[in-house]
Amino acid sequence: MSKIKNIGVLTSGGDAPGMNAAIRAVVRAAIYYDLQVTGILRGYEGLIHADFISMERKSVANIIQRGGTILKTARSDYFRTTEGRAKAYDQLTQHGIDGLIVIGGDGTFTGANLFSSEYNFPIVGLPGTIDNDLQGTDFTIGYDTAINTVVNAVDKIRDTAESHDRLFIVEVMGRDSGLIALRSGIGVGAEAILIPEANMGVEGLVNRLEIGRKDKASKIIIVAEGDEVGGAFNVGEVLKERFPHYDIRVSVLGHIQRGGKPSCMDRVLASRFGVAAVEGLINGQSGVMVGQVNRELVFTPFAQAIKHIDAQEVSPAWLRLVEILSL
Ligand code: F6P
Repeated sequence: MSKIKNIGVLTSGGDAPGMNAAIRAVVRAAIYYDLQVTGILRGYEGLIHADFISMERKSVANIIQRGGTILKTARSDYFRTTEGRAKAYDQLTQHGIDGLIVIGGDGTFTGANLFSSEYNFPIVGLPGTIDNDLQGTDFTIGYDTAINTVVNAVDKIRDTAESHDRLFIVEVMGRDSGLIALRSGIGVGAEAILIPEANMGVEGLVNRLEIGRKDKASKIIIVAEGDEVGGAFNVGEVLKERFPHYDIRVSVLGHIQRGGKPSCMDRVLASRFGVAAVEGLINGQSGVMVGQVNRELVFTPFAQAIKHIDAQEVSPAWLRLVEILSL
């Protein structure tokens, strides 16, 4: 018999499309197994301040298609402190919450990892971040929607780039990871993609443009915000100097990448993960993130899930793909 009776659920860190679908799945699965569910508002910050709401079947009606998170989210500095985590633990015990499901990314799991080892408290994580920068899952909730948002935006930019014979440098999100840039860049047919993992550098880019087609004036270059060159505007400055004949424009896509209706892939992934997280907690899983690897559900310890960019994804083979296709 499982000891879990009341599951707390929260979203933390940067929001991601599909988080609502994940919350819905957690709530519905908990109810299915006759458990109580407590919604915790504003991530760990709300946990520390007991910002709790009781959730029922209807609380999650009509949200599967909505972007953002109905539970709201925050990045809590207080939870990074021993005192903050002690307060969080007190709130959980006082309110009878005996299992926790946290939906977020790297920062969320770093906190969860500390907390579950300090208090031996049952926690299961759901990967919810547009960055896709977690180990132990092929895809995170929100990534598919975000790269499609980028593709839609850059397709529009390409129309005007083509009409004016312009070179566009487009900056996409990814503070520590180039995975949004890499996939969306391939998806839009970019001439070059600058990502922190590949270290191409602005000289590498200049080189690429020098050997590239001279007859094609309109070009798209995708830059991850975390690239060492320091963002699209810096790249723009260098290229303007080195290629005065190009008509260059810079576009930073920004937070539109975090919003919008989740794609079907993200809704399904979130639904599957939500149910698996509840079942995992019931079956005694703790200190782990649920993920999907080669279509199978897997649980990965938080410590292994964080701060590991998927080496497969940024392997030389992916980078060669970009080079071959941009000819
Ligand atoms: O972690 C997700 C993410 O969107 C990163 O790609 C980005 O660098 C960061 O969050 C921006 O966060 P915020 O706007 O919340 O400061």
